[in-house]
Order: sequence, then C-alpha cells, then structure tokens
Amino acid sequence: MVHVPTRGEVPVRLGPSVDPLIPPIGPSVMSADVYRDPVRFELERERVLNKHWILAGRSETIPDAGDWLTFEGHGETVVVTRQPDNSLAAFHNVCQHRGPAIVGDLTGCGARRFTCPYHGWVYDTTGKVVGVPEREDFDPAHLEGAAAPAVAADEWGGWVWINMDGPGNAKPLVDAIGPDITADLGRYRMEDMVLHEVVEWDVPVSYKAIVDGFNEIYHTKELHGVSPEWVKAAQKTSFHITGDNYMCFVPRAEVLDRLEEDWDHHRYAICHYVVFPNTVFNCNPEHIQVFHPIPIDVDRTRFLCWQLIYPGDQADPEYAAYFKKMSAHWAGLKHVVGEDIAIYEQLERTKRSSAYKQHILQGRECKIADYHANMDRKIQNPE
Ligand code: FES
Ligand SMILES: [Fe+2]
Repeated sequence: MVHVPTRGEVPVRLGPSVDPLIPPIGPSVMSADVYRDPVRFELERERVLNKHWILAGRSETIPDAGDWLTFEGHGETVVVTRQPDNSLAAFHNVCQHRGPAIVGDLTGCGARRFTCPYHGWVYDTTGKVVGVPEREDFDPAHLEGAAAPAVAADEWGGWVWINMDGPGNAKPLVDAIGPDITADLGRYRMEDMVLHEVVEWDVPVSYKAIVDGFNEIYHTKELHGVSPEWVKAAQKTSFHITGDNYMCFVPRAEVLDRLEEDWDHHRYAICHYVVFPNTVFNCNPEHIQVFHPIPIDVDRTRFLCWQLIYPGDQADPEYAAYFKKMSAHWAGLKHVVGEDIAIYEQLERTKRSSAYKQHILQGRECKIADYHANMDRKIQNPE
C-alpha cells in the first residue's frame, strides 16, 4: 500500500475559518523590466541566486560515499559529493590553476579524487587541492590552502539543495524553507518517494516568468481549459505567504464535499508550495511534480519538471495499478505543462517590444506581486 498523506496536526488551510489571502495584497502593477534587464540580472545572480538555497538534484542519485552530481545554472557550476559519514560536501567546479571545469560528467559514483583534465591538478571530494604535478615549479605560497571554493549543501525532502553563500554563511536549509512548509509539505514524505521521470525544456524567457505561472491559478480556465466545476471549486483557493515562501491550496472539485467534512487539504486539495527563489512543489495525494526553472541567462531558462511517485513492487497488482494510474496522470500533466510552455514562447515574441511595459495584477495574483517585491528588496538591500 502506498503512503497516503493526510493533514495530521497541520493547521487547517481552507474553509470558513481561514482567511484566503494571507496577508491581503490588493491589485497592483509592476514593471516588465524585471524579466529582461541584464544589469538587474547580474545583481540578482549575486544577491539572490548566490545567497539562497536552490535545488541541485535528488538524494537518491548519490546514495553512497564518493557518489556525486553537478549543478549548472546562472553561470555557476558546482559539484556535490556524498561523504563517508553520509553528509554532503559541495564545491565550485572550477580548477584553481587556470579555470576550466574540473568535472565534465553530470553525475557519477565512487569517486575518491577528481583530476582536472588540463594539467592534472587533483582535488579530493571536498574540493581541496591534494595533488599538483611539477609542484616544485610553483611558488609554495600560491598553493597554500588551495581549494575550489566551498558551497553549502544539505538535504530535505529527498532533495539535494545547495547555497553558494557557502558553509557558515548560508542560513540553515530548514529555516529557509520555514516551519510552515516543512510541516505541511513534510506530510507527503518526499524523502520516501522515487523519481518517475524528469523532463527538460529550454525556454526562451526569464525563470521568473515561469515561477509566476505557478504563483496563480487565474490562467487555468483560459489556457488549460479546466471544467466549470474546477473553476468553481478553485474560487475557494487559499493563498499564504510565509517568510520568503508561498503556499496555496486549491480544492479539488471531485472531492469538495469530503474536503468540507474535515478540511484535510492533503487528501482533498492540490497543495502547492514555492520555496524562494525558484523551487515549486505541486502536490497531489498520490504524486508530486517539482517544477525547477534554472536560470541560464536573463531571458533563458532550463526548465526541469520532476515527477515523484511512491515506490513499490510492480509484481504487486495493487502497486501495478497505482503505477499505471500515475503514468496516465503524468502523461496528461506533461500536456498541461506544454500549454504553459506555449505561453512562454508567446512571451518570447514580446520580450523586447516597446509596448510591453508592465503587468497589471489582480488580488488573487498576490503571490506574484509579493515575489517580485521581495526580489526587489533583496536586490536593493543585500543582506
Ligand atoms: S587548468 Fe586545471 S590543472 Fe591546469
Ligand atoms: Fe499552467
């Protein structure tokens, strides 16, 4: 039997006792330049993307000591390695001799050392330089303490997260995700789930335009053609801002009556969590999609879509039926994401247009307004 997430002790998030907009932010406007200004993107790289926790991959990819994966995004390349004590270490994948990437492959297992392919400098699995060919020809002072700079790495929910602020500077990962989301999203036990598939798109717009699409449900009627019953139930959606992050709970039309009995949003709503700046969890009771728009440049994004399911034995007819159902759901969801991608292509056509100046947001697009205001605060007032 696969795990069935329930609300447990988590607070009620929907219904008459809950304010559906917390805190209330009214209609607003915002500049379109946040999606296309290269100067601003440089500041964002330095002050936001390099100072917050971002996803690097699934823990199950690197189960054993010496296993490693790489992260590539917003101009950075990072290696994450599993240590003998089961902790993670991470370092910038940049040879300290003359700069090329030390590690070429995206992932691997059982490494004890990494050797730069250019002149053969050798790094241990924490990024420390432990071997330099013809060392005697260098000034010893230049090599003292040589190491690829450390990156903070940790795990939560079966995910590997990294923070380029580095160990000692980055605030603890669980504090960044925050108690509301660790408790609420924690009910799904993502650490026990397995990867069903990951799909990747190269998208010609800012990663923030993609995050925006997951911070509102206003577009679902027109773009995704959801049923009138879905739209009616979704009118009761609640939006929550919690620290830098967001939660949103969308009642599922087909079980609305059961939701209204005990307000178990894990069983009877679509639960949605956004961890600032670019990690989106879309949770259904039996499967989770993780939307991960990785910025490549100011207006280009590598968009990863991960589907997680509960593990089981395909020989068990009950599990086989679950797996078949999840596969069908996932096929449908990929079609829905394809509809979102089509909009990003429409946005590509206008991104330099002199007529594209601002966004006009309604009250239920409050998460978008707050997201960009928060981004702006962090760029203007670096911590
Ligand atoms: S650049 Fe890496 S060893 Fe020379
Ligand atoms: Fe969508």
